[in-house]
Amino acid sequence: MTGVRQPVFLDVDTGVDDAMALVYLFGSAEAELVGIASTAGNVPVRQVCRNNLALLELCGITDVPVSMGSENPLQTPLRTAEDTHGPYGLGHARLPAPTTSLTPYDAAEAWVRAAHAHPGELIGVATGPLTNLALALRADPTLPRLLRRLVIMGGAFDYRGNTTPVAEWNVSVDPESAAEVFAAWDSEVGHLPIVLGLNLTENIAMTPQLLGRLAAAAGSSWTPMSVDDDRGAASAASNPLIRVLEDAMRFYFEFHHDQGEGYLAHLHDPLAAAVALDTGLVRSRPAPVGVELTGTLTRGMTIADWSRRWGREPNALIGVDVDPAAFFDRFISRVGAFAKQLDHS
Ligand code: RIB
Ligand code: CA
Repeated sequence: MTGVRQPVFLDVDTGVDDAMALVYLFGSAEAELVGIASTAGNVPVRQVCRNNLALLELCGITDVPVSMGSENPLQTPLRTAEDTHGPYGLGHARLPAPTTSLTPYDAAEAWVRAAHAHPGELIGVATGPLTNLALALRADPTLPRLLRRLVIMGGAFDYRGNTTPVAEWNVSVDPESAAEVFAAWDSEVGHLPIVLGLNLTENIAMTPQLLGRLAAAAGSSWTPMSVDDDRGAASAASNPLIRVLEDAMRFYFEFHHDQGEGYLAHLHDPLAAAVALDTGLVRSRPAPVGVELTGTLTRGMTIADWSRRWGREPNALIGVDVDPAAFFDRFISRVGAFAKQLDHS
């Protein structure tokens, strides 16, 4: 690591795994988190804002501006996912109401301001619907060239959806914004967005055992979680951040178990945050990418034209391979150390 901190802008629909992405960046010394855009998705945008402000406050971080995005997707009515992320978006965890405020400007303007403040250096990460990034691109079409890198968690490539049989949540909530974002990049920009779909992120499965390793890395007391526990059983971890993450993850474990996927939880968004800081964590392949907007059964489906049938240049780098163990080693060491220094008991 060169020691030079990299400016990072994170657009989230916090959400349990968005929260895990945030704490990953908090624990990454090479990341300078310069702003957070709150996007409607897992929960309504005002709840996303509260979750972002409250998590920053819990973690003692006071210098990261949080902006509120659009209440609704570009065209389609908002759908939320409290069944997956809990009534307030952080699973069973409830954080104290934040005492800090949002920026006076909105999330789209926050994207543009951050990009102009760090021209050619800013790393953008989007782990929710792409509504506010699309609005930022409409406001400033030079945005792609101002970014050094863009990592998107979204889509499903040659893989089933998690919201419809073919569509992934972030794209399904706002397919028009995803289409506009993908259309804004081409080989002229100098870099292509790295797009991590379910085909890749569902390899990153948090388990009670891995969560125990995280608690131990934080020097926290912990009790192994199990599917046999009472639903919603509160964490008794001694570390304040581990307690919140355990309560959040328990809801996510219960949801995946109820879906028949096991007592585990796919950490889609933390993988995007880790790749934003080190693209070598995944193998990716260039392809032209499109989003189905009018299909009766397929709206929100993301398509990779691997065989170049459309006769178009690639506009994305699609993540196709990852080493989950390497990711979890890095996640546990960074988040564990960050959580440990929070514990003043
Ligand atoms: O499909 C998974 C994605 O949708 C994740 O970003 C999760 O937080 C939800 O937003
Ligand atoms: Ca998300």
